[in-house]
Amino acid sequence: MLESAIGSPNGAGWSDIGMTKTDIILETRDVKRHFVTARPIFGAPTVARAVDGIDLLIRRGETFAIVGESGCGKSTLARLLTRLLTPSDGTVIYDGHDIGDLPEHEMRDLRRDIQFIFQDPFSSLNPRMTVGALIEEPLRVHGIGNAQARRGKVATLLSRVGLSTMSADRYPHEFSGGQRQRIGIARALACGPKVIIGDEPVSALDVSIQAQVINILEDLKEEFGLTLVVIAHDLAVVRHMSDRVAVMYLGQIVEMGQVEDLFACPKHPYTAALIAAIPVPQIGAKLNPVQLAGDPPNPIDMPKGCRFHPRCQFAQSRCRTEAPKLSDTNCAHSVACHRADELNLSGIRDLSNTRRSSARTRFELYRTARAHSDGVKDAPATI
Ligand SMILES: Nc1ncnc2c1ncn2[C@@H]1O[C@H](COP(=O)(O)OP(=O)(O)OP(=O)(O)O)[C@@H](O)[C@H]1O
Ligand code: SF4
Ligand SMILES: [Mg+2]
Repeated sequence: MLESAIGSPNGAGWSDIGMTKTDIILETRDVKRHFVTARPIFGAPTVARAVDGIDLLIRRGETFAIVGESGCGKSTLARLLTRLLTPSDGTVIYDGHDIGDLPEHEMRDLRRDIQFIFQDPFSSLNPRMTVGALIEEPLRVHGIGNAQARRGKVATLLSRVGLSTMSADRYPHEFSGGQRQRIGIARALACGPKVIIGDEPVSALDVSIQAQVINILEDLKEEFGLTLVVIAHDLAVVRHMSDRVAVMYLGQIVEMGQVEDLFACPKHPYTAALIAAIPVPQIGAKLNPVQLAGDPPNPIDMPKGCRFHPRCQFAQSRCRTEAPKLSDTNCAHSVACHRADELNLSGIRDLSNTRRSSARTRFELYRTARAHSDGVKDAPATI
């Protein structure tokens, strides 16, 4: 394990932020990733500010979700967390180390420790390799075990994700989407990672199959003491599997907190609008009145002041000129809105203790909600 080398965030003591240094497995400090999208002969290049100043503390063993509409920067942030992308500015810290400074031999440890599960399990699996070879590949790359031991490990992993050991000799195209995602999970688990980052790990799957894959992820998390970082655009999925959630809008976090708290009492109008789009489980239940209008602005040409103001029904003149800061990134529930204290936004309270029930029960509630909303005229779709 790497020796911890970085101090506490923003000069605070670790106890000041309610945790010890060893509680934190992943951290970002004002991390940015800007992409140059055009270099005209005259004038300045155009730049997409995909991730634009994010501070995060992810606790060891938690499920941390990152949500937001398409294009808000979720995948870019996920790639920054694993050094699949390097930041334009700021720092990413894994287990106390700035991953931008790691020498190559320590990068190998990092690549073992942090694994990715991709949205599309078909394109992320080499179609010319058998399932056994795909799962064994990371073990070979990291020089773990001899051929016989690796084959045994592949068989164990296959059965752990609910697939027959005979699957090892077959090819990815012979499997369904849900089965392919299980193969992706088995491959991600092969080297004994500490963190798994799932970029929309279930959004390409049918709802019934989503439940199976989520249950597998939750069971494995408990069994192996994993930290899960789940990227999603569907808040219903997030709500049923996360401990904490960060809501992103145009490259920044606008609200972050414990999942029950954030869903019951959203403080940012954008979060409230996302929650309003979740299917409601009871017949006749009232929907949150906050609605999202229009598309997100272009990350190349950000609105001044609060980036959400062109779509916010509560915007005032201050919102058009002054950017709100995230209130306190270290507290249980933080928000970036000038009017957070005065707005009385409602969330969903009826199932706010669902985190304490089993993943299966929580997901059954979700499926009931989904089935109900599918049958209700004008029911809102998930975003
Ligand atoms: N390599 C790149 N070059 C230029 N722009 C990019 C690049 N990668 C991402 N972007 C831009 O950065 C913004 C954020 O993209 P990103 O893929 O992180 O969003 P996302 O939240 O994951 O969206 P989705 O939900 O659709 O997957 C988008 O406007 C995207 O066009
Ligand atoms: S700062 Fe103003 S525009 Fe932005 S979310 Fe809050 S009320 Fe709306
Ligand atoms: Mg994405």
